[in-house]
Amino acid sequence: MYPIKRKPKAILSPTPEHIDYNTIIEIPNMISREMGENLKKYAVDEIASGLHRRTPNTKDGVSGFYTCHVHETMNVHGYDNGIYELLQDAWTLNAQQNNYEILYLEPYEIKMYKEGDCFDVHHDGCLNFEETEERKMNLIIQLADSDDYVGGDLYVEDHHVSRTFGTGVFFPSNYMHRVTRLESGIRSCLIGRSWKTYTGPVVEKSRPWDLLRGEDYLKPGER
Ligand SMILES: [Fe+2]
Repeated sequence: MYPIKRKPKAILSPTPEHIDYNTIIEIPNMISREMGENLKKYAVDEIASGLHRRTPNTKDGVSGFYTCHVHETMNVHGYDNGIYELLQDAWTLNAQQNNYEILYLEPYEIKMYKEGDCFDVHHDGCLNFEETEERKMNLIIQLADSDDYVGGDLYVEDHHVSRTFGTGVFFPSNYMHRVTRLESGIRSCLIGRSWKTYTGPVVEKSRPWDLLRGEDYLKPGER
C-alpha cells in the first residue's frame, strides 16, 4: 500500500505548456455500488467524517461545496475503509502509464455539491515549499448517478467527464478543471491525489498566489 500523507504546505506549480488529452483517462466501474453508498453514508455522518463547507477563493468568488476526508480511522465509526486497498492497483497502473513513481497519496476526499454549488475553473498542481515533491495526478470518481442531479458537470480542460456512477477520471493535477453550477439534487464524488519527486525548474516564489493553497486560487487571467 502506498503511504497516506496529508498535503504539505505548498506553492502553486506552473501550468503546463500544452495539454495532452491522452493523460486524461476515464475508467468505468472503479467502485462498487455498495462501497459508493458506504462512502456517502460516512460523508453525511459529520461526527465521523468532519464534513464541512468550503468556499475556495477562485475568480468567480462564488465557488462552494461540502467536503470531508476519508480518514483511515473511519472503521472506528463502523464504516468499511476498503477504498485505499481497492484503488491501489489503479494508481500503480496509472503511474506506470505516465512513467512516474508514487511517493504517497493524500487521504481521499469526498466532495458533495448541492443546489447552487459549483467550483470555478482552477488547478490543484502544487509543490511543497522545499520544491522536492510535486502533486502529480488527480483521480475523481463519480459517486452519484447522472439522474441524481441537474447541472454539476465536471470538465477537465475541454473534456466533459462521464456522469455515470463509478466512472473515474485520472488527469494531471495541474490541468484546469471545473464543476458547473448544480441546479438541483446532490452530486458526490471521491477525489484522490498522488505525489512524486519534483525534478523541474526552481519556481519563482515572489508571486502573491505562491503562498496560497494551489487548489484555492486561480491565477489572474487564467480561465
Ligand atoms: Fe480541483
